[in-house]
Amino acid sequence: MSLPRLLDDLAVNTVEWTARQIRKRVPYSPSNQFLEGPYAPVREERTETALRVTGNIPPELNGLYARIGPNPMQVENPAAYHWFTGDGMVHGIRLQDGKALDYRNRWVGTRAVNRKLGRPTIDGSGPFDVVNTNIIGHGGRLWALVEGGPTPAELDSELNTVKRGLFDSGLHKGYSAHPHRDPVTGDLHAICYSVAAPNRIHHVVTNSQCQITHITPIPVSHGPMVHDCAITASKVVVMDFPVTLTPLDFLKGSPFPYRWNEKHGARVGLLPKQGDASQMRWFEVEPCYVFHTGNAVDRADGGIVMDVVVHDRVFGNSAQDLGQSPVTLERWTLDPQRRDVQRQLLNDRQQEFPRYDERRTGQDYRYLYTVGFDTTTPSPQPLFRHDLHTGTVQEHHYGQHGLSGEVVFVPRNANSAEEDGWLLSYVYDLEKERSDLVILNAQDVGGEPQAIVHLPVRVPLGFHGNWIADGAMN
Ligand SMILES: [Fe+2]
Repeated sequence: MSLPRLLDDLAVNTVEWTARQIRKRVPYSPSNQFLEGPYAPVREERTETALRVTGNIPPELNGLYARIGPNPMQVENPAAYHWFTGDGMVHGIRLQDGKALDYRNRWVGTRAVNRKLGRPTIDGSGPFDVVNTNIIGHGGRLWALVEGGPTPAELDSELNTVKRGLFDSGLHKGYSAHPHRDPVTGDLHAICYSVAAPNRIHHVVTNSQCQITHITPIPVSHGPMVHDCAITASKVVVMDFPVTLTPLDFLKGSPFPYRWNEKHGARVGLLPKQGDASQMRWFEVEPCYVFHTGNAVDRADGGIVMDVVVHDRVFGNSAQDLGQSPVTLERWTLDPQRRDVQRQLLNDRQQEFPRYDERRTGQDYRYLYTVGFDTTTPSPQPLFRHDLHTGTVQEHHYGQHGLSGEVVFVPRNANSAEEDGWLLSYVYDLEKERSDLVILNAQDVGGEPQAIVHLPVRVPLGFHGNWIADGAMN
């Protein structure tokens, strides 16, 4: 091993050892809801073939449905565990010619995971190295993503981690879990922040060859947690909301040092796609938090309209305080004359994980899909299909015990209409403690599923996933 590598290992190990000692200050408790029931981690990596299928898998679906989430390898004190910080695990099902070829799950090969599994360390991983939030196809390759500091992880087609880094830039810098692809240029746009740099965030553009073509810093204060962004045809939408870094919490043993901050305002910024911070226009909004956006479109007056899932307040009482306030779907209009955000309630059901036909990113669209959301008590949750033209909502209920995670829309083909395709999600059966891949026909969401792939395993509730079509991962 080289001297720089040894010194790097020593520094990382020292930081991790210190963090472990600090977390030992938290009084032990054997319970944590995010380690139990449908959240409980699985203990092994598996590859399963001969999967049982009900219904007919559409022959147009040739590719990989991959989804990622936290699956901690080892938790010494459940009271000191936070859902957002568990080691990442990817679950993937390959579909081809109307058949389910196989299912596999693999931990993302971060430093700590590879050490525990006896696998070699991959260059580019650092302390607090967890990659657990999203998995995308880009540049014909597969990337697992997280925010706040750790670099993306490239996976091969069998979900093994093969590389770390900010795509092919040669930089070992953190990224975001929620880039948005411009359907016209193929560029990925992301707003990135780092725990280590609380006074700025960055707009990062990655082209379809995985090269970074534009990085621009944006000054902020207090170290805001910026989970998502949005793009229109001409702009990037930047969200600066009052969940900010609290180093003191970390020193008290919290693995997730972010809390609601009454002193931090809430604002939404518009930045030209190739612009810099001097061109930024900010719009004030009442304090709230948005993890996830739907689509956003330009207005003729220079403003925008975007759809968002709004949490009234998060991490107020503690870093574990998630989902105990109303979580609703709203349409926000940013008006350059008024310089404010006009909020319109679209639907008041508790819901999260908005997705839509991403061929329409930045353009007018009609259908938005969300799922019911309640982290306080695991319970069956439906899909909501919002028709934004008529204001109507259709639901799909996944049986008496079925709890769906995020739903991904897959178009029938490149030229099919917006509603012509399928909705894929992992659905957790709370009674059987097993999961299925459920495929719905997007034009008949209230009807019987198009197909169900029955898995012999649990897929714990997690975060985000995507469909990566064969030969078209960009
Ligand atoms: Fe997210």
